[in-house]
Amino acid sequence: MSDIQTYIEKNKNRFIKELIELLKIPSVSADPSFKDSVRIAAEAVKSRLIEAGAEDVQLCETKGHPVVFGSKLINPELPTIMVYGHYDVQPADPVELWDSPPFEPVIKSTPIHPDGAIFARGACDDKGQMYMTIKAFEYMMDANDLPCNVKFMIEGEEEIGSAHLGDFIAEYKKDLACDIILICDTGIISNDTPSITVGLRGMSYVEVEVTGPNRDLHSGLYGGAVANPINILCEMIASLTDANNHITIPGFYEKVIDLTTKEREEMAKAPFSKSAYMSDLEIDDVHGENGYTTLERNSVRPTLDVNGIWGGYIGKGAKTVLPSKAYAKISMRLVPDQTSSEITDLFTAHFEKIAPAGVKVKVTPHHSGEPFATPTDFTGYAAASQAMELTYGKKPIPMRSGGSIPIVAMFEKELGVKSILMGFGLDSDKIHSPNEHYGLFNYFKGIETIPYFFKNFADLNTK
Ligand code: BES
Ligand code: MN
Ligand code: MN
Repeated sequence: MSDIQTYIEKNKNRFIKELIELLKIPSVSADPSFKDSVRIAAEAVKSRLIEAGAEDVQLCETKGHPVVFGSKLINPELPTIMVYGHYDVQPADPVELWDSPPFEPVIKSTPIHPDGAIFARGACDDKGQMYMTIKAFEYMMDANDLPCNVKFMIEGEEEIGSAHLGDFIAEYKKDLACDIILICDTGIISNDTPSITVGLRGMSYVEVEVTGPNRDLHSGLYGGAVANPINILCEMIASLTDANNHITIPGFYEKVIDLTTKEREEMAKAPFSKSAYMSDLEIDDVHGENGYTTLERNSVRPTLDVNGIWGGYIGKGAKTVLPSKAYAKISMRLVPDQTSSEITDLFTAHFEKIAPAGVKVKVTPHHSGEPFATPTDFTGYAAASQAMELTYGKKPIPMRSGGSIPIVAMFEKELGVKSILMGFGLDSDKIHSPNEHYGLFNYFKGIETIPYFFKNFADLNTK
């Protein structure tokens, strides 16, 4: 057994207990009624960092929820790793679909997690994964084996688009100086097939409002003669994709960098079972852009999805009404080299143009983030790859993910620093869904792997 394995073995119950305490705090960043809990979670992260040995730990105020920042600087000659993570979580809704309450963590085993998994909102995304970095740091401090300088930047607004982090980075630019950023907030292919995320999609998120008549009308007296904004909105949305499931907004694909044949062949080597994918989701077929595989559709191709749509009467029974307004929330996931501002502008212009004269439309942008892709031929990737190879006994596969972490592209642009996305979650962990969970195997494997990443990166970057 390695020293880190022995340390985990000795402390595993405490590691579980501490994570459970953190998961009990409902730090839902999206909902203002949870504001106090979000701060309590930030305070808890601060205390855990101090206990693990970090110095100058503080809550940095932003216009939104605070960022927890701390560091342990041992020698200016040595490289510096900055750990980024988030302590905020997605809303637990729909709460009634959880088998146990979202903020009362329980451990249960599942076919994929025979050693048990912690069920709670944020278990995997990102409290469980973020906490692995603090426990790995605790180990390195305890063993007197911290091989380089470390900074922690744990934010509270990732799940709402990190809107205030641009200002934060500008204000604290000097304090954030580092050589690499380690992020444990993504996933691996499976517990038998480790992988490292080398790309994330960007995001343009808009809300649209379609207004017809100035008031809700009797659908008998006016129906058929006045534009129904819900009907119109549905037609407009339907027209945004064609028969090949291609997005029809002019210019949408202009900046998309197509993968080379060789890159597509590499991607196709990743283990993937379409039938297992379909049976997990209880669907009879997959759906998406013609000419692309499922793995391409959900990672290297851009998307347009309606996230919510509402209007008119949705109460019990039937009410005959021709509504005045209809709304939808629409997200577009972006890939290199699309930019969120361009795509938001293209969407807005197109949406206004296709609206028939009988309605008015308003497009309001929500959050945005830029896509990101990282090479595999630099010391950051090598450090992570070798660390995982050691702890999994298998070389990890580089993989582009379809998810988004808005800050990553910003780190590269503003700080000039690359990020390593060494996550340990599984797609089946139900992040953002009811019954989110995180495998204990994954939790401990992360704690075991992170110190090797530190050691490898320090070795590869010390003059
Ligand atoms: N950790 C996820 C992103 C993720 C998960 C990336 C798994 C790759 C693999 C992150 O917390 C997240 O949910 N991001 C949001 C960003 C949005 C709110 C701007 C997303 O992707 O929807
Ligand atoms: Mn996350
Ligand atoms: Mn998330």
